[in-house]
Amino acid sequence: MQAKQHAHIETFGCQMNERDSEIMAQTLGADYQLGGGIEEADLVIVNTCSIREKAEQKAFSLLGRLRRMKKERPELLIVVAGCVAQQEGSGLRHRMPHVDVVVGPQQIYQLPQLLEKARLRKTSIATDLRADFRIPRFLPDLRSGSTFKRFVTIMQGCNNFCSYCVVPYTRGREISRNEEDILAEIRHLASHGIREVTLLGQNVNSFGRDRAGSPSFAALLRRVAAIEGIDRIRFTTSHPKDLSTELMRCFADLPKLCPHFHLPVQSGSNRILSLMNRGYAIEAYLDKVEELRGFRPDIALTTDIIVGFPGESEDDFLQTMAVLERVRYHGAFSFKYSDRPKARSAGFADKVAEEEKGRRLEILQKRQEEISLERLREWLGRELTVMVEGESRTAGGQCSGRTERNQIVNFTGDTTPLLPGQLVRVRIEEVCLHSLRGSLVAGIEIP
Ligand code: SAH
Ligand code: SF4
Ligand code: F3S
Repeated sequence: MQAKQHAHIETFGCQMNERDSEIMAQTLGADYQLGGGIEEADLVIVNTCSIREKAEQKAFSLLGRLRRMKKERPELLIVVAGCVAQQEGSGLRHRMPHVDVVVGPQQIYQLPQLLEKARLRKTSIATDLRADFRIPRFLPDLRSGSTFKRFVTIMQGCNNFCSYCVVPYTRGREISRNEEDILAEIRHLASHGIREVTLLGQNVNSFGRDRAGSPSFAALLRRVAAIEGIDRIRFTTSHPKDLSTELMRCFADLPKLCPHFHLPVQSGSNRILSLMNRGYAIEAYLDKVEELRGFRPDIALTTDIIVGFPGESEDDFLQTMAVLERVRYHGAFSFKYSDRPKARSAGFADKVAEEEKGRRLEILQKRQEEISLERLREWLGRELTVMVEGESRTAGGQCSGRTERNQIVNFTGDTTPLLPGQLVRVRIEEVCLHSLRGSLVAGIEIP
């Protein structure tokens, strides 16, 4: 029997890319084994992200390194997947002739055939974006990866065309997955011991809109919550304009639905929101936050913010800062605006200078860090339910896990009998910059 070849997958970008990498790994099946590092690999897959220029640069710099590796080992196969692959298509092969396969997000399921073709003809490009694409039924392999939590893709693509964003061009139009396939996948996960699922889509709030007769996202959530064995349900991402009262109500009704909502605001200025084509005013956004808190007062909110969008004045920026004070987010991802090919805002006037973007980002991040810390302090002295993940990476000898709000908790106590995925109670005793510390509450282990 021939020894298996080694494959290495490098993943950039969002959780959707992470899930796609798992799917690609699974399609390699019998032919390859993962691990062993990039230097020993016979096949390298670079799953790329194109959301900001920096993300794209990371992929290109790795591809540069692979070009040198391939000079020494011409039999090395190189696959480029993800959003840069989709964006560049066949152009990528011209620029980087050492690439063997260019595969877009809709074609990842055909990777083995594409590799076969590449081995014979040394060129294989599959980046058609079809509006009638259907996400296939695909049952995850549970022999590798997390034993207790998983991502489940429920949608692909986006129809929102925020003026700064490349995603509608790289992932195509919004496509919802068949409900029965989603439920079958989650049942399969639950029957193999998975206890937490995160439902993924660029805008899960509009789930089902492209499929007549499909349930709404809220209705889907209720069906997922009825699956035995699943203890925690999360989802990402949500567009504020599509956040319905029906969805908010799920947070009051479904104990398994984790009280955490990622609701990207992007800017606090209506002028900028309109230039961004976000489809809501800041007042409407804040009203929704309030309504959501009415259903679940202790819900943790996180957000995404862009600073230095073309035309953003100091006053616009201060309006964004005011939103931080109003909402007091539990966490925020913030970015300097970056021009993207095809995105409309690339052609907008009044670009903000790099240095100024840097200044605004620093101010915003510093203030948000203080607020995030204050939010964590609210838990001091209280008990929280934690899903055990394993040994702590930062606190030697301690056990680590996550709360429903996705906060990391490192804890001490008699942790030896604990298994990943188990729910335990922890008393919070200390607050660190991005995590909590505490000790196991003796005698209480939730099965
Ligand atoms: N679908 C998700 C966003 C995915 S991209 C949503 O709408 O919530 C993640 C974040 O990257 C966005 O929320 C935005 O804050 C940021 N982003 C997107 N395009 C960007 C650009 N051109 N420059 C800087 N940040 C950008
Ligand atoms: Fe991009 Fe806007 Fe779609 Fe999010 S909703 S993926 S920011 S176009
Ligand atoms: Fe990046 Fe594509 Fe995700 S651009 S953030 S990998 S959808």
